[in-house]
Amino acid sequence: MNVLKLTNGREISYLNEVEVQIGIDENDGEEKYGSELKNVEKSDITVHKYEGGFKIWECTIDLCDFIEENPSFFAGKSVLELGCGAALPAVLTAIHGAKEVFVQDFNASVIEFFTLPNFESNEHVAKVEGAAMGWDEVPQKLNGRKFDVILSSETIYNEDDYQSLHDAVASTIQPDGVAWFAAKFFYFGVGGSVPSFMEFVNKAGILTAVEKKIIAASVPRRIVEIRKKV
Ligand SMILES: C[S@@+](CC[C@H](N)C(=O)[O-])C[C@H]1O[C@@H](n2cnc3c(N)ncnc32)[C@H](O)[C@@H]1O
Repeated sequence: MNVLKLTNGREISYLNEVEVQIGIDENDGEEKYGSELKNVEKSDITVHKYEGGFKIWECTIDLCDFIEENPSFFAGKSVLELGCGAALPAVLTAIHGAKEVFVQDFNASVIEFFTLPNFESNEHVAKVEGAAMGWDEVPQKLNGRKFDVILSSETIYNEDDYQSLHDAVASTIQPDGVAWFAAKFFYFGVGGSVPSFMEFVNKAGILTAVEKKIIAASVPRRIVEIRKKV
């Protein structure tokens, strides 16, 4: 088992590579998801096929630290994590008493062999569901379901996905809900950035995006807060 240690010392457990592989082997993963898993072996990112769900990305820690700053907020809440990968932020909200958590990623193999087992590796009583889908499918597949809290980490690197990511949030956020996106300020060589994502969201006129927290580093990072426009 691996452990993510947060700045305040809290530890979140998650499966290591060997445990993920055992899950794949014992549950016919290669047969079910053969071509998807080939992309995992090839690279960190194959656009719109596999985009790094089996790894823990840096901003996950920022989002977890941010959750730790207000832990009582999550009790009884419904939570959605978009582009979840390991879903450690969503796991943390479950630890802090979220009543239901829905996790979404591109890859069904990630959801089955990494994301959902990570919830089982930590103590909580939340009802947990997960499903594979693209952000463009979220409005239709979640079919009117709304969440108090939406989380997302390291998902704004591709400007081509801003519309579907925006629509995924707009269609699932409660009227008084909140979304927190953790991201690097710029994704060098890829195109996405915090300013361009916030500009896109604010221009669309349905949601408002503000910078909530600055994380100073050689590549600076941000927590962006999104709410419904009133
Ligand atoms: C860089 S990884 C970040 C994973 C995780 N949130 C973290 O911070 O460790 C980006 C994640 O977003 C998912 N993703 C990327 N584009 C997507 C899309 N268009 N629709 C659905 N999921 C997508 C990928 O499958 C991947 O798990």
